[in-house]
Amino acid sequence: MNDFKEAIKKSYGNAINKHTQARLVNQSSCCAPPEEIAKDDQSSCCPSSASESKLESIVPSFGCVVNLSHKANIQPGDIVVDLGSGAGHDLFQAADMVGPEGRVIGIDFTPDMIVAGLKTAAEKKITNVDFRLSDIENISILPDNSADVIISNCVINLTMDKEAVFREAFRILKPGGRLVDADIIAVNNLPPEITQDPEAWCACLGGALTEEGYVEKIKKVGFNEVNVTIFDNFDYLTNRFQSGIIEAQKPLS
Ligand SMILES: C[S@@+](CC[C@H](N)C(=O)[O-])C[C@H]1O[C@@H](n2cnc3c(N)ncnc32)[C@H](O)[C@@H]1O
Repeated sequence: MNDFKEAIKKSYGNAINKHTQARLVNQSSCCAPPEEIAKDDQSSCCPSSASESKLESIVPSFGCVVNLSHKANIQPGDIVVDLGSGAGHDLFQAADMVGPEGRVIGIDFTPDMIVAGLKTAAEKKITNVDFRLSDIENISILPDNSADVIISNCVINLTMDKEAVFREAFRILKPGGRLVDADIIAVNNLPPEITQDPEAWCACLGGALTEEGYVEKIKKVGFNEVNVTIFDNFDYLTNRFQSGIIEAQKPLS
């Protein structure tokens, strides 16, 4: 399989810069950068409703499930890590929920996303957040057993080595901690014209696994109590996709 990482970084760097420059930040959320959404409207992998985050007017969402932090049942005082945080749409919502005793750390490998997130945090004087530049396949900057909840919105489908991401999530979570991954799920195995197309990858489609594919990798690294909730269905070419949340728990011992 080709490595599409550079295309993904460039695509999301362009997407956040377009939002910043054009101040088109109050558009509906979508996991695919505007220029990368496949031409067919049906292919949009996101619900059409806009997010209800308080910061939605300035922080664009590229996610595939709205209000992820609320759905993740984040509690005051929690330490939360957002894998592929983008400019922080879900992260800032989580920051509100964890309060002054908690902390939310966003990880992203696109420098302009990190810059946008840091800028918002500074402008809004939000002090319980961090944005760190890293590939989520190897998050050496975060210690073992340190997070209560890991959230991720429409990112793991974009990664080349999904098992490595789940292994890192497992390592970082405290015993009993939860992974809440909003993602794109392929209903059937995808054909090469999608899995080998960089545009399909950037649009969150080319790297999507089936539900069984995600669950197998999640269980393989040690998680248990894996549950999948589907929120939406759509087609691209002749392939059916779903957006949903895959939740899993790190055992207590
Ligand atoms: C579809 S956007 C979602 C952004 C954010 N979660 C949201 O909902 O707005 C995907 C994000 O994942 C990041 N990303 C993709 N692959 C990554 C990787 N291997 N490591 C770190 N970040 C990655 C991209 O830079 C981009 O910001």
